[in-house]
Amino acid sequence: MSQTLLAPRVAVIGAGLMGREVASAFGRWFSLLDCPVRPELVAVCDVNAAALDWFRQVPTVRHFDQDHKTMLARSDLDVVYVAVPHHLHEAIYLDVLRAGKDLLAEKPFGIDLAAARRIRDEGAKLGRFGRVSSEFPFLPGVQRAIAAAQSGRLGRVLSLRNSFLHSSDLDPTKPINWKRQNRFCGEAGVMNDLGLHVAHVPLRLGWKPVRLYAQLQKIYTARPDGKGGTAPCDTWDNATLHCTVDLPGQPGVPLRLETKRMSPTDTNSWEIEILGTEGGVRYSTKRPKTLETYTRGSEQAWSATDLGFGMPFKSITGGIFEPGFPDLLQQMWAAFLAERAGKLEKRFGCATPDEAVTHHELWAAALKSHATQTVVTL
Ligand SMILES: NC(=O)c1ccc[n+]([C@@H]2O[C@H](COP(=O)([O-])OP(=O)(O)OC[C@H]3O[C@@H](n4cnc5c(N)ncnc54)[C@H](O)[C@@H]3O)[C@@H](O)[C@H]2O)c1
Repeated sequence: MSQTLLAPRVAVIGAGLMGREVASAFGRWFSLLDCPVRPELVAVCDVNAAALDWFRQVPTVRHFDQDHKTMLARSDLDVVYVAVPHHLHEAIYLDVLRAGKDLLAEKPFGIDLAAARRIRDEGAKLGRFGRVSSEFPFLPGVQRAIAAAQSGRLGRVLSLRNSFLHSSDLDPTKPINWKRQNRFCGEAGVMNDLGLHVAHVPLRLGWKPVRLYAQLQKIYTARPDGKGGTAPCDTWDNATLHCTVDLPGQPGVPLRLETKRMSPTDTNSWEIEILGTEGGVRYSTKRPKTLETYTRGSEQAWSATDLGFGMPFKSITGGIFEPGFPDLLQQMWAAFLAERAGKLEKRFGCATPDEAVTHHELWAAALKSHATQTVVTL
């Protein structure tokens, strides 16, 4: 098998919060025991020279560019990860695909539904391998919840919920940034920002809503601009989508999708709950190694099982230890690169461009539902 599949040369466009995490994940790749691919981070691009400087301590990086087109003209790159503000996704993702590189895109995969469709269609036309970043499904607790949902042992499904909750925006003195302005983040606001995290697992399990009613909230409409003044904060802060899913033989199952920037006490809480007539599972990153389950009986009670470090790709880390955010990103990268090499086997795969397009369909329907105060059919 070719070196471009087994030892891909990876580039990053956007050396901010998420761009740096790639260097961290690759820098300890030797901790993985059964990953069939070994990537090398060779190039980084950012319009901000200071952001590039952080990468000078990464020994494998040999190209430092401030223009992504200069970077994409290089022949010694196989895969490009792009982590830039949402209004730049479409132009840069299309440039990556047209330059002949494979793409790990950041969510939401374009600023809106129309952009997502154009990116997906161009990638399919050109035959590129493309996936979208969503790391929480790689947690052992989430893998177990997915397996329980697929097993059928939970019985008839009573209700489904997937939430992703933050709280730092409760602080009115937090300065504005691009994620809180529609022209950079997109009209869908918090759904663009956090939404793929709550759509990936439901869509992969086949829980595609057929109808939804959305409750959207804007709490603070202005924030400090960081220069002594204020700036408009026009994105949706909190979104609760009450969806209906038709499962085989079970029409009308309720699914609640929640993305919130103002959820008191939640720093980065990703939660899933599946309730059935025979049993249930729930998991929250508030207790990262613990899966809660119940089984129907004369009395029902939740029980808690500590899962430890049972990751999809085995690692040197002891089985009793807790997984964290950097571990998830490394596992997600391993899944992306293994799938690209045709070696994912039965493991869980990254979000697909089709799933990203579908998640934008949900947010477009949510905007319409809120504007018309009606239930929208998808
Ligand atoms: N998967 C996750 O958990 C997760 C978490 C946070 C953000 N994200 C996503 O990652 C992406 C980036 O978010 P972030 O938090 O890293 O943002 P950030 O603001 O920290 O970093 C963005 C970087 O892009 C650079 N940039 C802007 N224009 C550029 C251009 N034309 N060419 C090259 N670089 C350019 C900026 O200078 C900045 O360094 C977004 O799509 C966001 O939704 C994903």
